[in-house]
Amino acid sequence: MTEGYTDLTVLDLSAKAIAVAKQRLGKHADAIHWMGGDITRAEFPIHRFGIWHDRAVFHFLTAPADRHAYVERVMRAVRPGGHALS
Ligand SMILES: C[S@@+](CC[C@H](N)C(=O)[O-])C[C@H]1O[C@@H](n2cnc3c(N)ncnc32)[C@H](O)[C@@H]1O
Repeated sequence: MTEGYTDLTVLDLSAKAIAVAKQRLGKHADAIHWMGGDITRAEFPIHRFGIWHDRAVFHFLTAPADRHAYVERVMRAVRPGGHALS
């Protein structure tokens, strides 16, 4: 289910979406760090991630300030040489 990746974080604004994803993953869900919250306000340690996979979230952000906050977080949280997929 986690395709060999061992350090995974999932963030979603919707507690319901997180609950459904956890249920879908079954026992594999325990290996994931789950975060509820708004991506435009989320705090991550600098260079925390090697891969940032946006699963159709950025297009929800229609206000320039929210898009700016999002990009700031990607730039801070993805380590140099990492990848951001959208
Ligand atoms: C198209 S769905 C993708 C669902 C699921 N993540 C997946 O990969 O199949 C987009 C998700 O973005 C979440 N979302 C929308 N605005 C958000 C925000 N500001 N911060 C975090 N998540 C947000 C929604 O709750 C929704 O679950």
